[in-house]
Amino acid sequence: MRKAVIVGATSGIGYESALILLKNGWELGIAGRRLEKLQELKALAPQQVHIRVIDVRDQAAAKELSALIDELGGMDLYIHSSGIGCQNVILNSAIELDAVSTNVEGFVRMIDAAFSYFAKKGGGHICAISSIAGTRGLGAAAAYSASKRFQNTYLDALEQLSHIRGCSISFTDIRPGFVDTAFLHDGKKYPMLMSASFVAQKLVEAVEKKKRTVIVDWRYRLLVFFWRLVPQCLWKLLPVRN
Ligand SMILES: NC(=O)c1ccc[n+]([C@@H]2O[C@H](COP(=O)([O-])OP(=O)(O)OC[C@H]3O[C@@H](n4cnc5c(N)ncnc54)[C@H](OP(=O)(O)O)[C@@H]3O)[C@@H](O)[C@H]2O)c1
Repeated sequence: MRKAVIVGATSGIGYESALILLKNGWELGIAGRRLEKLQELKALAPQQVHIRVIDVRDQAAAKELSALIDELGGMDLYIHSSGIGCQNVILNSAIELDAVSTNVEGFVRMIDAAFSYFAKKGGGHICAISSIAGTRGLGAAAAYSASKRFQNTYLDALEQLSHIRGCSISFTDIRPGFVDTAFLHDGKKYPMLMSASFVAQKLVEAVEKKKRTVIVDWRYRLLVFFWRLVPQCLWKLLPVRN
């Protein structure tokens, strides 16, 4: 049985990905901060699911991941779905720093731990959900968009490092547009909303096919294509919201 760990599996895209992988016969280690949500998921397939409360901001999180991998009896795939973010037009620094601590520090902590595990094991697969928000700096969500760009670049760097060290680690970077999850339940209206189950299906397909970078869906691929063409002198004038 193939074994995957999902950090950030208590809701949204991570939760839906867990459901699909379970159906596909994977044995799972799942983590997040909310124990009751982890227990709910475990109750669906008690023999197939192992749970651990992990806060990626916690310095002990890498050790907790290692304990979860041990309990699972190994790991073939690591999925990083943990993330926070919101619009912050008034630039409240507590909100900005929270995003950095979860999406940058927490991300590095967990991705590094997964990388080290796979390097030792002789191979494996790391999949992270970043966002199309990393394409350009977004004025309404500065820390969030910058943190997602950081994630994109960090995965590029680790892919090269894996090659340098001969580690045989595969990488998948999932970049969704707006997804209807708790993440966006802030009372604002978001266009072109996708369901979490749809994005999770695309994630699982990308993992199975070992795709490197996937923008979900085609409408966002088009949007990102045009975003990239806009010169910075015009980009700064656009009222892009995220
Ligand atoms: N929704 C969107 O429109 C959208 C678009 C593009 C990219 N994304 C990205 O997709 C990923 C998943 O988000 P989602 O949309 O599925 O939202 P979500 O339902 O809010 O899920 C976020 C997940 O992250 C976990 N998490 C947050 N802080 C954590 C921490 N400190 N330690 C451990 N786990 C933590 C949450 O679990 P606990 O609260 O239990 O810890 C939850 O399982 C995020 O990285 C997000 O940036 C989302």
